Amino acid sequence: MPNQLDFPAAENLRILYSREQIQTRVEEMGRQIREDLHGESVVLVGVLKGAAIFLADLARAIQLDCTFDFVAVSSYKSGAESSGAVQLIKDLTEPVEDRHLIVVEDILDTGLTLSFLHAHFQGHKPRSIRVAALLDKPSRRLQPIHADYVGFSIPNEFVIGYGMDYAERYRNLPDIRILDI
Ligand code: IMP
Repeated sequence: MPNQLDFPAAENLRILYSREQIQTRVEEMGRQIREDLHGESVVLVGVLKGAAIFLADLARAIQLDCTFDFVAVSSYKSGAESSGAVQLIKDLTEPVEDRHLIVVEDILDTGLTLSFLHAHFQGHKPRSIRVAALLDKPSRRLQPIHADYVGFSIPNEFVIGYGMDYAERYRNLPDIRILDI
């Protein structure tokens, strides 16, 4: 675990997307999802912990009848390096058979997490599965998976804020910033 000195002050980190830019884009994504769902109800499934803040804002932007559920996986250790293997730590709590699912993810990076979750959710027999990712790093992809809704496509930078962490820090920053690690 890094010590305090390894966490630069947030205000010294460059902003990639400001809170205003994020809000505008999340509202556009919500409108698009509402149009695509044609008034049908939906289950938003957030991937803990990184997607919690995005899910809270996206849910309010969708303005459809919806319920929430959360899953947790372990793939990243305490820092920035992936361990490769994905393991389910917490499954859905409600049955989703015949429901529309939207998997809500903070970042689509290698794609290992979402391809694992997609296969897992198919076993729950939902009516449909869509993926909404706030950020996408397409250059890092190891699995051929794409998100139906992407907030911003970004280069290969490590980002923090708006739910995303480095060793559990920075999740509460309202802007998305770049951390040089
Ligand atoms: P994937 O399985 O490689 O697609 O990883 C997805 C997960 O990795 C995300 O949900 C994040 O938790 C984490 N992750 C990937 N890139 C970043 C980053 O730049 N900052 C913080 N977390 C990241």
